[in-house]
Amino acid sequence: MPYIIGLHSAASAFLSAGFATQFTVAIVICLVIVLVTSKPSTSAGSSLSLHRSFFRQRYDFLNWGFQVTGESIFQFKLMNNTVIVLSGSSARQAFFYSKGFDLTEGFKILSGAIPMVRGVTSGLQTKRISTIHRRLAAVQKNAPLSELIPAILEDSRRMMESYGATGTFDPFDKTYELIFQTTVRSLSSSEISDDAVLVARLKMFTTPATVLAPWFPTLSMIKKLWATKEIYDIVVRAIDSREASGIARNDTLQMLMDSGDDKLVIVGFIMGLIVAGARATGTTASWLITFLGGHVDWQLKAKLEMENLLAEHSDSTSASLSCRLAEIPLEAWESSTPIMDSLLRETLRVAQPHTAMRRNLGPDVYINDKLIPSGAYVVYPFSDVHLNPDIYPEPLRFDPSRKPATKVDLGYVGWGVGNTTCLGTRLAKLELKLTTALFLLGFDWHVVDKTGGVPDSLPLPNWNDILMCRPPPGSCNISYNRTELAL
Ligand code: HEM
Ligand SMILES: *[C@@H]1O[C@H](CO)[C@@H](O)[C@H](O)[C@H]1NC(C)=O
Ligand SMILES: *[C@@H]1O[C@H](CO)[C@@H](O)[C@H](O)[C@H]1NC(C)=O
Ligand SMILES: *[C@@H]1O[C@H](CO)[C@@H](O)[C@H](O)[C@H]1NC(C)=O
Ligand SMILES: *[C@@H]1O[C@H](CO)[C@@H](O)[C@H](O)[C@H]1NC(C)=O
Ligand SMILES: *[C@@H]1O[C@H](CO)[C@@H](O)[C@H](O)[C@H]1NC(C)=O
Repeated sequence: MPYIIGLHSAASAFLSAGFATQFTVAIVICLVIVLVTSKPSTSAGSSLSLHRSFFRQRYDFLNWGFQVTGESIFQFKLMNNTVIVLSGSSARQAFFYSKGFDLTEGFKILSGAIPMVRGVTSGLQTKRISTIHRRLAAVQKNAPLSELIPAILEDSRRMMESYGATGTFDPFDKTYELIFQTTVRSLSSSEISDDAVLVARLKMFTTPATVLAPWFPTLSMIKKLWATKEIYDIVVRAIDSREASGIARNDTLQMLMDSGDDKLVIVGFIMGLIVAGARATGTTASWLITFLGGHVDWQLKAKLEMENLLAEHSDSTSASLSCRLAEIPLEAWESSTPIMDSLLRETLRVAQPHTAMRRNLGPDVYINDKLIPSGAYVVYPFSDVHLNPDIYPEPLRFDPSRKPATKVDLGYVGWGVGNTTCLGTRLAKLELKLTTALFLLGFDWHVVDKTGGVPDSLPLPNWNDILMCRPPPGSCNISYNRTELAL
């Protein structure tokens, strides 16, 4: 799903050798499939509708499955694949700790990210993926992560400067855009991230509409392949021009090139992780700004925390906010922001509509007496724990003062658990804290509805939107005024 759509399926496409030629082949295959299957039979029709539900109305669909079967574990067929949906505490435990459950294989089919054409986009290269994971860890070591602090703040300053003294925006556009920019900055090169047009193109090619359309053969599949090729070209051009210039820069691209990685690993790293990272981080930032715009008490608490952090670490009181924030060391961002930490935690709980996916690579296992055959797909919706009223009373209410759920095992899985935890956590948290800090100190804001007035209640996270949990477009806006402090 969202986060990893990027890495695991984009990478599998990018990493397959000879991408360009295979791309052409794939287009031809797609066209053939479209022609052959343009008149679906009735049985294809029913699997088609399951398919659509799984991708378009997932939360309702999964709840419906639990309801009609009356079971805590049920299964359905997605095209030709068995998909088993789990719920409950012991199943959750088994899901995250079963040896044969493979995340990469699960995402390839179930994410719907990139069409799977046998021999073209399948055949993921585990070795390259693990190289990408190692490089991601390298980017998040103390020294390079600290280097990113001023760069992320400068991007934020530039973009927030353009908001003007007062106005309104839709956080699911504007805040997402901001995070997209800071993520591209963190994971790629200065050439790409300084070029607003290029960043906008990357954003367009990785937006839900192009990435998420279901993978059964339609025009959208061809569009996705096309988008994939466009992205590939952008990154390869950046590599080539860096090589041609002969000038080394201190950014992530340079680190990748200096490590001697081949082009496909570099492309896989940049594109896979941008899609994987920007989506989840952007969703979180958008909701955080929204929640803080409806819970002004928390906005003030968070602002105070940032003011105290500044007072402690920055003595240049005349400098701009972004310069002063850049003086706060990484260590303080990571361990001296308890309010911000509880805000992030609660935002992830209530508005991160993740469904974890695996494929059982074998052997057969039983979970609560239910057979999970080798080869089957297994999914665990995070709503089972994060929106569980027994664990979190009034689960959709945003309340950062909630105590951690200690009564149940794995009562919180926001960053994953077991052997599949988020490998971008450090970067994601840093981006979220820096961008939110600048917005907190530079703006006052609240949520407004269509009429421009303060709504009676905040929009609820829509878990059927598996990407951003976004409420219906236009249902709310952020109305803001700049504070008197220079960004
Ligand atoms: C708020 C932001 C983010 C959240 C909430 C988040 C959450 C998660 C979760 C829950 C998983 C585990 C999925 C599962 O068990 O099925 C995961 C995995 C992963 N995340 Fe994140 N993520 C975020 C941002 C990022 C960023 C910025 C990056 C990269 C720069 C990233 C890279 C990854 C990778 C590579 C994995 C796969 C780990 C594996 O294959 O074992 N994530 N993330
Ligand atoms: C569907 O799955 C069955 C058994 O898993 C397999 O024998 C069959 O070849 C598959 N059909 C297609 C079209 O992949
Ligand atoms: C988790 O990872 C560690 C080290 O990578 C490995 O030794 C262990 O067997 C893994 N556990 C499971 C359940 O896959
Ligand atoms: C380049 O980045 C490293 C950390 O990754 C840092 O230690 C070093 O000082 C930087 N060099 C320059 C010239 O900025
Ligand atoms: C912005 O300022 C105007 C005029 O002072 C005020 O009416 C409005 O409530 C303020 N908006 C916010 C979000 O603080
Ligand atoms: C939100 O703000 C944008 C930009 O100011 C505006 O175009 C849009 O109509 C607003 N939507 C709502 C629901 O207020």
